[in-house]
Amino acid sequence: NNIERINELVANCNLPDEDLKVLLTTLNKSEEEYLYAKSSEVAKSVYGNKVFFRGLIEFSNYCKNDCIYCGIRRSNKNVERYRLNKDDILVCAKAGYELGFRTIVLQSGEDLSFNDEYICDIVKSIKDEYPDIAVTLSIGEKSYESYKKYYDAGADRYLLRHETINEKHYEKLHPEEMKLSNRIECLKNLKEIGFQVGCGIMVGSPYQTVENIVEDLRFMKEFEPHMIGIGPFIAHKDTPFKDEKSGTLEDTLHLLAIIRLMLPKVLLPATTALGTINPLGRELGIKAGANVVMPNLSPTNVRDKYMLYDGKICTGDEAAECRMCMQRRIESIGYEVEVSRGDYVDFAN
Ligand code: SAM
Ligand code: FES
Repeated sequence: NNIERINELVANCNLPDEDLKVLLTTLNKSEEEYLYAKSSEVAKSVYGNKVFFRGLIEFSNYCKNDCIYCGIRRSNKNVERYRLNKDDILVCAKAGYELGFRTIVLQSGEDLSFNDEYICDIVKSIKDEYPDIAVTLSIGEKSYESYKKYYDAGADRYLLRHETINEKHYEKLHPEEMKLSNRIECLKNLKEIGFQVGCGIMVGSPYQTVENIVEDLRFMKEFEPHMIGIGPFIAHKDTPFKDEKSGTLEDTLHLLAIIRLMLPKVLLPATTALGTINPLGRELGIKAGANVVMPNLSPTNVRDKYMLYDGKICTGDEAAECRMCMQRRIESIGYEVEVSRGDYVDFAN
């Protein structure tokens, strides 16, 4: 039964495909409680009673790609495009530093006007000014050489969700010019170069099957990323997926918990998308085994333009408000905020 499956997962950090599939589809309420008790216990045994804070700067919503699900895809003509320059980004980083953040995440669409030199210049400037900050990049698929340059400039971590490891499914979510093989190649290169690397998927993306999710779990278990970004898919009104159903809270929480049990040391955010589909989504995510949150540091005048999906929360809030709001939320469920760099537990540079 499912309790035995959960116990086996705790003991082996692994489970046969068929059992993963059963767990993902048949958990009742009391089994769910049991699963979350185990997954939060494992999270605490590795990282303590702590949730890591990352300050997120969404510095450009220009994108050369056309991912079918994404609100800032190049075909969406209704987006008011913006890009911050280096000075704007440094102002956000300073504000973040003063609010106590020791990880800054720089995320954008694939905006070619930020060439490698410019990205390196921004990374170097942040690292020179604040040597105790970790810089995470999330700017898409680049060549080995580009990634190497960012790393040499001082970038510490890189987030690139693989979105799905199933090629057929990948093709349903992306235009023909985008290839899953390239994305996976990117992830391998990032790891080889020495980044702490994050992959991940959307839960409940259109055409996703439970078999796909099991394949993703298999891939993540083998790849052993340092971070895994998962959150529900949420439709955006100006994309071809506008009428598709969102991923559910339950499915996302189940998956967070199973990921925690399969990869105990992974850094696992309770995402903004999870907070968007349910007002307490992030708190529930932490109780299911997530241990990272990423409050927004972007200037308020551009916040509502980085709309990946409808209804995104925190678009009107100042950085300091999100910082304090997240702290209150975390403390309300008995956890503590951890503002240090928060590296992967046994990451040796
Ligand atoms: N351009 C970079 C990249 O592709 O990695 C970073 C930005 S991209 C917008 C960040 C992530 O947003 C994607 O990996 C995707 O999983 C997520 N995302 C995009 N559209 C979404 C949607 N409609 N619902 C939920 N998540 C979405
Ligand atoms: Fe932004 Fe709560 S985290 S307002």
